[in-house]
Amino acid sequence: MNPFSLEDKVIVITGASSGIGRHTAISCSLQGASVILIGRNPERLQETYTCLSEGKRHGSYVLDLTDDACMSDVVQQINTDFGRIDGIVHCAGISGTLPLKLADTAEMERYFSNNAIGAVNLTRELCKVGRFSKDGGSVVFLSSVAALTGDPGKSLYAMSKGALLSGCRALAAEYARRKIRFNCISPGVIITPINENLPHIKDPEKRKALEAKHLLGLGKTEDVANACIYLLSDASRWITGQNLIVDGGYTVQ
Ligand SMILES: NC(=O)c1ccc[n+]([C@@H]2O[C@H](COP(=O)([O-])OP(=O)(O)OC[C@H]3O[C@@H](n4cnc5c(N)ncnc54)[C@H](OP(=O)(O)O)[C@@H]3O)[C@@H](O)[C@H]2O)c1
Repeated sequence: MNPFSLEDKVIVITGASSGIGRHTAISCSLQGASVILIGRNPERLQETYTCLSEGKRHGSYVLDLTDDACMSDVVQQINTDFGRIDGIVHCAGISGTLPLKLADTAEMERYFSNNAIGAVNLTRELCKVGRFSKDGGSVVFLSSVAALTGDPGKSLYAMSKGALLSGCRALAAEYARRKIRFNCISPGVIITPINENLPHIKDPEKRKALEAKHLLGLGKTEDVANACIYLLSDASRWITGQNLIVDGGYTVQ
């Protein structure tokens, strides 16, 4: 048996309509998983769906994770359609650059609801008894190196991603009894729609400086997708409550 295989596992992936989530969904399907896509944009979700490997049943569900009213209906539908799940990867998230003088309550709520609260709500619904496999499984939250380092204008993003790191450790302790593992992945910079229009990517000088901070250069979505596969697979069965930094050496300096 290949311990890295996802054969016959059922994996829910949020943010599957773009970037890291899309690549993770496609890679998981290539490793034998049935993949359940979640995102807001139906057309982009469909684009991901058409790239999934054939031979397994996959699903696609439109859900805004900040919409509490719809969440339990969608999870109920997933449960009806698939019966059990073995893993979740929370890729859905927003980013931005916002100085403190603009960080009002509405902005804080926007960052936290999109980056942390939605992930916790969905996890709670999916972890209800009878929905997650009796054999346990794996939950992966996409945090960020921004939660570990200090960058100007990133306070709200960093706080919302730091919440995932802290929550993950507590959830790991809470769910160990059911053999559901919780881990985070903290990527360095990968150019995707989340950041392609931000100043540090658009401005050639700033981008050069950013690239120089990544010892191995900027990352690719596949770098994070491969880390997700490891944390979803049985190869990581003794790892829980941890943060896997996937950043091309950004944080070693
Ligand atoms: N790219 C990087 O450099 C980097 C670095 C560190 C961490 N990360 C983290 O990695 C994750 C994926 O980022 P990415 O680079 O792949 O960004 P992306 O290409 O912009 O994808 C973001 C995804 O999140 C979904 N999303 C956002 N808010 C949502 C909500 N309320 N409900 C449901 N879906 C929602 C989007 O859905 P729709 O498209 O359907 O609207 C999209 O699928 C994010 O959490 C991000 O913070 C990224």
